[in-house]
Amino acid sequence: MATAKVSSDYFHNMNSQVHELSHIWDTHRKEVDELIARASSIISIKQNAIIVGAGNLNDITLDFLLNNYDNVKLLDIDEKSLLNVLNRYEGNNVNLNIIVEDLTGVLSDKFVGEYYEGLLMKDNAKITKIFNDIIVNGICKKTIFEEKYSLLIESTVSTQLGSLFTLCWQELNPSPIFEESIRQLIRMMTKSHLLQLKHGLDKMGLAVITSEQYEFGNNLPTVKYIPNPVDMLEENLQSKMESLGHYVRGRITEDDLIEADFNIIFRNQWIWRFNEERTYLVKGWVVSRNF
Ligand SMILES: C[S@@+](CC[C@H](N)C(=O)[O-])C[C@H]1O[C@@H](n2cnc3c(N)ncnc32)[C@H](O)[C@@H]1O
Repeated sequence: MATAKVSSDYFHNMNSQVHELSHIWDTHRKEVDELIARASSIISIKQNAIIVGAGNLNDITLDFLLNNYDNVKLLDIDEKSLLNVLNRYEGNNVNLNIIVEDLTGVLSDKFVGEYYEGLLMKDNAKITKIFNDIIVNGICKKTIFEEKYSLLIESTVSTQLGSLFTLCWQELNPSPIFEESIRQLIRMMTKSHLLQLKHGLDKMGLAVITSEQYEFGNNLPTVKYIPNPVDMLEENLQSKMESLGHYVRGRITEDDLIEADFNIIFRNQWIWRFNEERTYLVKGWVVSRNF
């Protein structure tokens, strides 16, 4: 499928900005790498690995995968960032390929254009129809994966899937009418995305999934009752953030994994200093498919 230019440019812009921050992601990268090493120590047949939402690969050490798996694929909507990664390995004789795909399956230029126009013109009937069509036709379809993988990695991608929907709405027509529809759409997207990931996983394979849960930073409600970002690791403060609804939209939770029929083998949590202003509490899991 040809990827829409509007969406890929949007994500490329975002990826280019965060690429400059990769040096402050060291702790986060180390935690993701540790989950990958743990999963790999359990996987007996290391045929193939895929990184879903690979972007610039700031958060994963690719060499480990190239040294341990027969072939490695990188999937993202942002082709330019994937090509940059591929260029870094040119001439190294590695079995590395890219897949340029939109995980949601709806971010075509036509679709984004209509959504944008509907919000701009305050054409509520048009926006309602767009949401209804998505519900009827589905989102994040399983068919995106043409093969099954021994190791599938998805690190902090689910929270990005609905970001274009939210951003356009906030900037163009932040009427409360669509707030709940967008919230529901994002929930639906996360659930379908997990089934999509499960479909791409081999019977004997494992997935590493990480997801931002809580956010700390200037002007965010959490700063009012959390003295220090590291306190987000505390269970009682997590319960408070849950009860106040102060969690990251589009996140994957342990309940979501269980509902999607994944089996949790290992779990961890850590603090991700994203940039000077923002910090996340991330949860990460090694999971298998239940049969
Ligand atoms: C927070 S980043 C993950 C970190 C990334 N591995 C890195 O190091 O830059 C999320 C990634 O998901 C990709 N992404 C977001 N929406 C997508 C979609 N609908 N289809 C495919 N990739 C998507 C973005 O382009 C981005 O590279």
